[in-house]
Amino acid sequence: MKRVIVNRVGEARDSLEVQEIEDLEADPGQVLVQMKAIPIHPADLLVMRGRHIFTPAYPCGIGIEGVGRVIAHGEGVNAPPLGALVALPFGETWAEQVILPAESAIPLPDGIDIFQGSMLALNPVTALGLVLGMKRGEWLIHNAANSSLGRLITRVAAHKGINNISVVRRRGLEDELIANGADHVLIDGDDLSQRVKAFTGASGVDRALDAVSGDASGRLFDCVAEGGELICYGLLAGDQVVIPSAQLIFRDVLVRGYSRLRSLKALSPEGSQLLHADLFEGAASGLFYTPVLKTFTFDELYDAVELAERSGGEGKVILIPPSD
Ligand SMILES: NC(=O)c1ccc[n+]([C@@H]2O[C@H](COP(=O)([O-])OP(=O)(O)OC[C@H]3O[C@@H](n4cnc5c(N)ncnc54)[C@H](OP(=O)(O)O)[C@@H]3O)[C@@H](O)[C@H]2O)c1
Repeated sequence: MKRVIVNRVGEARDSLEVQEIEDLEADPGQVLVQMKAIPIHPADLLVMRGRHIFTPAYPCGIGIEGVGRVIAHGEGVNAPPLGALVALPFGETWAEQVILPAESAIPLPDGIDIFQGSMLALNPVTALGLVLGMKRGEWLIHNAANSSLGRLITRVAAHKGINNISVVRRRGLEDELIANGADHVLIDGDDLSQRVKAFTGASGVDRALDAVSGDASGRLFDCVAEGGELICYGLLAGDQVVIPSAQLIFRDVLVRGYSRLRSLKALSPEGSQLLHADLFEGAASGLFYTPVLKTFTFDELYDAVELAERSGGEGKVILIPPSD
């Protein structure tokens, strides 16, 4: 079977290679999945650049989600059944075959679009997690709001009646993002908090979500009301969260991080079932719909990665493994 490996830290053409290896076999408790569709995410590229906390020794596999069919069970496994379409929430998924613990494979409902299924275990889970606990009528602000995930956050917030402000880095997206559910769209900049408080009143927002890091974190921090919180979940522009010390010391604003994998690991089996029900409902209603920008084969890997790096909310780049 073929899989993609990261040989070394670098750009795609230096770093990534399609490798032929022996077919895999499921160990006890595992399932073997024949992959069908694999979205390319910014976090995958963090592994390629050596910026991901989970980056192991190189060479290593790559890929944090995808969809496929169960083709073999390890000893002691009888579910999900052979042939079931499953979403993979992790597992070096840029490969023809992937093995993972049987209980980690998410069986998808009948009739689900295979591409939407391939994108269900990362961004929709994160959008739900980042908005969790907020109430109708509260204020949310989030940056990189034109990203695929940013658009889902907006839609989940609007669906829950949360007032929300989309922050982007360039003009021209206002109408599209308002149509997506944003109450306001602002271009990031030094006076962001003054512009935000024109909408929220002097106190500011209840929660800010930061996908950018660097100085952008401080600008969002300034927008948060006393008793509110800033949650960092991405590092699109920097490896540090920069907040002026005096602000941090004298203001009662909680700063924390969010990791989808960490939140999934903390879930009880009942919590997982509830999450899956929310995911399937959101997939069926179109709440989590994410367009496909373009599909590529493994032979077109470098073009695929380069397009994924340039793209955002207009759609995800999807890899189709060879045997499909
Ligand atoms: N913590 C978690 O568990 C978790 C889970 C999922 C995703 N994430 C993170 O969420 C973020 C968005 O993911 P995605 O899949 O939605 O990405 P995506 O669809 O590929 O979109 C990337 C977006 O990033 C924006 N961007 C790129 N560089 C930027 C910069 N320097 N400053 C501001 N914006 C920048 C682009 O803006 P333009 O539209 O202006 O080009 C684009 O809209 C990523 O950082 C990802 O790692 C975190």
